Amino acid sequence: MARIVAGVGCSHVPAIGVAMDTHKTHEPYWAPVFRGFEFSRHWMRENRPDVVFLVYNDHCTAFSAEMIPTFALGCAAEFQPADEGWGPRPVPVVKGHQKLASHIAQSVILDEFDLTIMNRMEVDHGLTVPLSVMFGEVDEWPCAVIPLCVNVVQYPAPTGNRCYNLGKAVRRAIESYDDDLKVMVFGTGGMSHQLQHERAGLINPEFDKRFLDLLTEDPVAGSRITHLEYLREAGSEGIEMVMWHVMRGALNEHVREVHRHYHVPASNTAVGHIILENA
Ligand code: DHB
Ligand code: FE
Repeated sequence: MARIVAGVGCSHVPAIGVAMDTHKTHEPYWAPVFRGFEFSRHWMRENRPDVVFLVYNDHCTAFSAEMIPTFALGCAAEFQPADEGWGPRPVPVVKGHQKLASHIAQSVILDEFDLTIMNRMEVDHGLTVPLSVMFGEVDEWPCAVIPLCVNVVQYPAPTGNRCYNLGKAVRRAIESYDDDLKVMVFGTGGMSHQLQHERAGLINPEFDKRFLDLLTEDPVAGSRITHLEYLREAGSEGIEMVMWHVMRGALNEHVREVHRHYHVPASNTAVGHIILENA
């Protein structure tokens, strides 16, 4: 049977991808950001998954403002890195796992979560930056990746509770797959940030820390943080954090926090990162 061994929470700041692609990771501004991922890359090599189920958001890249699915599951054989205005990132093509993705689509949709099935989709920094920080510079990503794209760009985004329960449905789907696969679930985006209007530049380390504490220790309470609270405390783009609840919902109630990294600033936000092993 397939099994979920761990969850990874991780920011997706586009400038982190640029820093890697332009070889600036050792510069004083970026060094402390990347130092926090040294453990993670080692841990990834030690615990290498067969498949990463990666929860992320598209930033009006694959989807224009004309069409915005709440939850879209990547069922294609591969996903090309998107051109977000400066050419596609020089990172490997993302290989999917069509058999497991189809199984998840069937299981989760019949479990009454309506997913959009994506048989073709380009992936932006929301997906490629977390892969880059966790795996480093590689010629090929070392495992298959199944993307789950969540709408957090246009109100209303799904609630934290909906995301948490979707994570539980994803777990039921993965654990009912016959092949013996080691799966990790990534929840990405965040932490607190606001990119626009009067509060642009907002970062709230107290809120971020409480969010990470709840994620590990009391995921149900974490999943009940309201949209209004994200907006007020974490800024307009802080809503990206709801995606972490899908990851947490897919894990055991009790988990082991094996690593945490939090650093301000990185571009306009804080870098947040956590690794949770299924206890
Ligand atoms: C920044 C952060 C994001 O999450 C994003 O999607 C774009 C920009 C930033 O901090 O600059
Ligand atoms: Fe973003």
